Amino acid sequence: DHVVAFHGPHQAGIATAAQDRLHFAALDVEPGVTRADLRDLMARWTAASERLTRGLDVGAGASSAALAPPDDTGEAVGLSAANLTVTFGVGPSLFDDRFGLAGRRPAALGPLPALPGDALDRSRSDGDLCVQACADDPQVAFHAVRNLARLGRGVVTVRWSQLGFGRTSSTSTAQATPRNLMGFKDGTANVKAEDARAMDEAVWVGGRPDEPAWLRGGSYLVARRIRMLIEVWDRASLGDQEQTIGRHKRSGAPLGASDEFATLRPASLPPDSHVRLAHPDTNRGARLLRRGYSFTDGLEALGQLDAGLFFLAYMRDPSAFITLQNRLGTSDKLNEYIKHVGSGLWAVLPGVRPGAVLGSALLA
Ligand code: HEM
Repeated sequence: DHVVAFHGPHQAGIATAAQDRLHFAALDVEPGVTRADLRDLMARWTAASERLTRGLDVGAGASSAALAPPDDTGEAVGLSAANLTVTFGVGPSLFDDRFGLAGRRPAALGPLPALPGDALDRSRSDGDLCVQACADDPQVAFHAVRNLARLGRGVVTVRWSQLGFGRTSSTSTAQATPRNLMGFKDGTANVKAEDARAMDEAVWVGGRPDEPAWLRGGSYLVARRIRMLIEVWDRASLGDQEQTIGRHKRSGAPLGASDEFATLRPASLPPDSHVRLAHPDTNRGARLLRRGYSFTDGLEALGQLDAGLFFLAYMRDPSAFITLQNRLGTSDKLNEYIKHVGSGLWAVLPGVRPGAVLGSALLA
């Protein structure tokens, strides 16, 4: 029936085996909105998400009344749930003085610092809230974000959004590793949902004294819109491409090996190769659960393809990403071929039990 359970200690869409399609939206809260309005919105979003992820219409449905706009916009009628998940986060800007939440802001939830290689477009960065909709059908993911935004009218507006057309990661050992737009297998050494210990250590916020109770069972999400300079990459030799990543292109195996999952020894790889620099051994053990998507939005102003990797990564503490990107941004050979043009950080709310409302511990 292609239904992913909505309820649980964690929100779905993180440990869930990565679906094929993405619609991601960052939203800002409108002027004059109160904390009580936000609570009401979360109640509407929780109820709608529970229905959407079962493949049902929002509210009274797409044919609710002839004389008013229907409760649901209708384009998912007749489609399956397509493993839809919707995952909500709150950004650092929600903790300014508008809603009296400053005292609840975790120290880890500051805006991301300036990082080497940043070429960020602020209109494609940040946001008070975010929602990640993933599904195996693009129309189902689109429908979810459209209807959630509609339920938020008067309270929130979409600040920016991103469609992703193919997963670039696997988050389960049961999945085959997909390829990114550079043609390389991506997700081989990812944190996988079956590794409960890694999930607890590296992904879920737990009970450390610096971790607030309202976020326990949640996570942090970093999004980076990373353009690939595809025309440049396509002129690099296969040998150069493999030296850049540190793995073989066809098999995905570490350089010199033939099995994709052969143990990777960072010290044996080129010093500026991506996987050597990104490896936990190079970064005091820092690990991420990567869950990104390929995107293309046509051509940019100079006539080059506006395409790349919409990088999404979940982690227990944003310092993991900051450590990694400080290293990659200065030394990675991949920098010749990529540009980070959008960015955001959100605390991803814990999951809910049936009858409960997302974010209620934060907004109470
Ligand atoms: C591994 C591509 C950006 C962190 C990999 C692999 C590829 C790849 C092909 C090897 C397969 C795998 O183990 O998944 C890319 C491309 C990027 C990009 C094309 C940009 C367009 C980033 C960024 C970060 C990152 C921004 C974090 C700041 C990692 C990590 C690994 C990895 C942690 C696993 C390293 C290991 O433990 O062996 N990436 N990546 N990547 N990447 Fe990236």
